Amino acid sequence: MKRVLAFGASSSKASINRTFAIYAANAMEDVEVEIIDLNDFEMPIFSVDRETENGIHPLAHRFKEHIKAADGILISFAEHNAAYSAAYKNIYDWASRIEKSFFYDKPLCLLATSPGARGGSRVLDIAFNAYSFANKNVVTRFSLPSFYENFKEGEGIVNFELKVGFFVELEKFKAAL
Ligand SMILES: Cc1cc2nc3c(=O)[nH]c(=O)nc-3n(C[C@H](O)[C@H](O)[C@H](O)COP(=O)(O)O)c2cc1C
Repeated sequence: MKRVLAFGASSSKASINRTFAIYAANAMEDVEVEIIDLNDFEMPIFSVDRETENGIHPLAHRFKEHIKAADGILISFAEHNAAYSAAYKNIYDWASRIEKSFFYDKPLCLLATSPGARGGSRVLDIAFNAYSFANKNVVTRFSLPSFYENFKEGEGIVNFELKVGFFVELEKFKAAL
C-alpha cells in the first residue's frame, strides 16, 4: 500500500490546516497515512552561524526521514502575513541544508485554508511556485476559503463546487503515488 505523509504547516494546537490535512489524507482509499505534528520538530531559529558551530540540528534529519519514508507528501499551509508560518519555515530552512532535493521528486499535494475568503492562497502560491519548479513529479494544489463556513467537523467540505474541485486535485495526487 502506498504511504502518504501529511501535516498542517502550522504549530497551532487548534490548527485548521492540520484538520484539513488529516481530512484530505483520510479521504484517499487504500493509502497508508502518517500524520506528523510540527511541534515535534521545534528547533532554534535557523542561522548559518548555528549550522557552522553545531552542524545541522538532529530534528531536521528526523523530519527528512519522514519525507524519505513516504511515497507522497500532503501539506496544508497556514498563511501568516502572506507567507509560511514561522514554524514551517524554520523546519524547511534547517532541513533544506541536508541535501539538494527536499521532497525527492515525490508527488506533492499542496493545500491551504484560512478563516478568510482568500483561503491562504498567497502562501499556497509561494509553496506551489517553489515546489513545482524544484520537483519533477506531480504537484497539485487546492485552497479552501472561509474554512468555518465551508468545512464542518464530521462532514468535511460542505460546499459542493469546492468539494468537487478538491477531489479533482486529490485524485491527481493519488494517481501519481
Ligand atoms: C501571525 C499571523 C498572521 C496571519 N496572517 C494571515 C494572512 O496573511 N492571511 C490570512 O488569510 N490569514 C492570516 N492569519 C490568520 C490565519 O489564517 C489563521 O490564524 C489560521 O487559523 C491559521 O491556520 P492554522 O489554524 O492552521 O494555524 C494570520 C494569523 C496569525 C497568527
